[in-house]
Amino acid sequence: MSEAAPVRRRFNPDTTIEDLKAYMAPFVDRLGYKFNTDEEFVDEVLTSELELLESTGDVFCPCRVRTGDPKEDAKIVCPCIPFFRDQFAGLNKCWCGLFILNEVEDGTELLGVIDEPTGPVDVPVFKVADLPDGQIRHVKVGRHDIAVARVADEFFALSNVCRHAFAPLAEGFMDGYQVMCPWHGWRYDVRDGTTDHPGSDVKTYPVSVVDGEIRVRVTIR
Ligand code: SF4
Ligand code: FES
Repeated sequence: MSEAAPVRRRFNPDTTIEDLKAYMAPFVDRLGYKFNTDEEFVDEVLTSELELLESTGDVFCPCRVRTGDPKEDAKIVCPCIPFFRDQFAGLNKCWCGLFILNEVEDGTELLGVIDEPTGPVDVPVFKVADLPDGQIRHVKVGRHDIAVARVADEFFALSNVCRHAFAPLAEGFMDGYQVMCPWHGWRYDVRDGTTDHPGSDVKTYPVSVVDGEIRVRVTIR
């Protein structure tokens, strides 16, 4: 395999484990994760990532193989959680187990578990504090493009794709319980995905809030 160019450089060559922890902890907290409670394991993984930093110029996952394609390899730059939200939420951890869902008390018992999750899974998408009332935001969850809206302190999730000409609804305008498409103004009710245009309703997703995190239920097949 040919040696790939670094995906991007975010860390100096003299980066330490503590530097990585200080960078990663707030980053993954916004995604609903924390470092594994097994500190010895965390230090082992981060030591491997520092070795990869020295050889490649960035911190990659030690348990994944780089392809040489920078776009593909960007998906295994650590923390890679945004690329695999649905699987990780189903596993309660990232592949390696470096990160675990915030509510998991003992991360040691998750180490080595590699079952591919299937079925419905509640995926953390945003902190409640990161979605102000009356706003709508896009999130990619596995193969799903989802718009998450907050109205009167309730949360709703619907397909982000307008059925008219596929505009991103999360770039539209909220008007009460309706989102207005940014391109030609079709309106959708964020509560049930309905629109006045026949046969053009969009899919909605169940939403829950756990410990200040908004979760959207998707099905992994
Ligand atoms: S699987 Fe875990 S350790 Fe590997 S890149 Fe993703 S977040 Fe980092
Ligand atoms: S693409 Fe949404 S109204 Fe045209």
